[in-house]
Amino acid sequence: MAAGYSRTRRAVRRARKLVIKATTLAGSGHPGGSLSMAEIVGTLLFGHMRHDPSNPLWDGRDRLVLSKGHAAPGLYSSLAVAGYFEESEIATLRMLGSRLQGHPDLKCPGVEFCGGSLGIGLSFSVGLALAARIDSADTRVYTVMGDGETDEGQVWEAAMSAAKYGLDGLTVIMDRNFVQQDSYTEEVMPLDAGPAGTRVADSRADASLWRTGQRWRAFGWNVIEVDGHRIEQVADALARAAATRGAPTAIVARTVKGNGVEHMADNPAWHGKAPSPAIAPLVAEELDSHVMVAPSIIAGDMADLAGEVRRCEAAGADYVHLDVMDGEFVPATTFGASKVAELRPLTLLPFDVHLMIAEPVRRFREYAEAGADIVTVHAEACGEAEFGEVHDSLRGAGVGVGLAINPGTDLPGWAARFAPTLDQVIVMSVEPGRSGQAYIEATHEKARSVRDALARAGFGGDIEADGGVNASNAGACFDDGARVLVGGGAIMARDDARAAVAEISAAVRHARRAAIIARARGLGGDELVSSWIALHEDAGTRAELEAIASGEGRP
Ligand code: DX5
Ligand code: ZN
Repeated sequence: MAAGYSRTRRAVRRARKLVIKATTLAGSGHPGGSLSMAEIVGTLLFGHMRHDPSNPLWDGRDRLVLSKGHAAPGLYSSLAVAGYFEESEIATLRMLGSRLQGHPDLKCPGVEFCGGSLGIGLSFSVGLALAARIDSADTRVYTVMGDGETDEGQVWEAAMSAAKYGLDGLTVIMDRNFVQQDSYTEEVMPLDAGPAGTRVADSRADASLWRTGQRWRAFGWNVIEVDGHRIEQVADALARAAATRGAPTAIVARTVKGNGVEHMADNPAWHGKAPSPAIAPLVAEELDSHVMVAPSIIAGDMADLAGEVRRCEAAGADYVHLDVMDGEFVPATTFGASKVAELRPLTLLPFDVHLMIAEPVRRFREYAEAGADIVTVHAEACGEAEFGEVHDSLRGAGVGVGLAINPGTDLPGWAARFAPTLDQVIVMSVEPGRSGQAYIEATHEKARSVRDALARAGFGGDIEADGGVNASNAGACFDDGARVLVGGGAIMARDDARAAVAEISAAVRHARRAAIIARARGLGGDELVSSWIALHEDAGTRAELEAIASGEGRP
């Protein structure tokens, strides 16, 4: 069953942390390429492929071939989270006798291909796809390849064969992270083949210079280009690939090597090097600290919500926050499920639907059907039994489940029962009803106690701060534990929504860096702080970290 957006995102976050744990304990391994493909493998395993972790050799399964076998920690971590084996087994990575060898081995449940020697996985996959055709099976084959490995000539022989046989059951996902073992791909063997003298940074940032997709197209493949860290984009590309007839599909997924960890990101040094045990907890904290920005479109032009959705996308938002008000739970009325359905085709961005309506238990299904990715209902509008119905039904449909509380409402005791499977808790920082109000300061303290209560109950989802959030208080909201920030007045009411999102993101980044420095100080004093800062090669980042480290008041 497809896990849907929210659960896939949580599973990917969990898998990323296991990559760090495994490589740290092993003292070696490949974190960079494991982290760049985390959303690709996660979307395949949690959201898209037909497979059965309790029966790894089930005949009817789709096949996942990890051609870039050195990213084994990434594969094992996702397989563990998917339930192929206990997560604790991750600690045996690269040990003698372990099923989790440095490169994938068939001993490990869920592994389909002994990768490691690069350039071979696609040929193997062509064989699997041809075999499925002979068997009249509707098996789909997914081959995850590195960009550097396409330097191998054998890849292109396989690509020609796949096109010749029209293998529409075969999909390649290229983890286009621009880095291979020794350096940047564009320096070792250019794939985008920009004009001579093109700097790596330019070819990365400038889509008009990308040629990689054209190569696959020239070999007769259907080509789709996506941001490989956006689950919604990868999921959409996989669905389009599955609907394509007569040709194999290559999804060129642009990614960042080491994504999720600042000092590893886009740094070739982390291709095949393990984090040290001392810094591992800091990296884990960083992986738990990513924040989604969710502009609230009702703060824009209510007469042109379609335009506002497009503005969210142009602004670089992570979600679209849709405030549904019914004139009963709150005095105002905004829009209902038919509007959500009307807006749905305009963007792939996840729809974060906040239901400020009476008796949500009677209406929530309409919003799930309209294409919401997360549906949040208010604790003031339902009791434990109704929420249970909302929770079970949304989970069954692969839709994220949220619970919201007003400024004057405590987290209900029964929330603990749902905490482990809840995707989101909205702690309102204004009285719901309209955008543009001031943040209620007392919310900071309340949010922290909600965070602690949820943590005790095993919550693995996100706390969302909603109401009066802006670039000035975003850092404090982050410190309170919020990992999704809604912005109405601060984003959509502004002409330059993109600048507004960037300002909020910068504030959050600063708070995240400060939180990790404080953690480093607590765990290992000045020495650990210095070694953490020294890992950051980017001069700007390092300067900010140093400023934080020297400025934070010490006892
Ligand atoms: C309040 C809504 C919020 C609000 C956000 O009822 O739930 O999402 O519109 O807007 P700002 O950020 O302006 O408070
Ligand atoms: Zn809201």
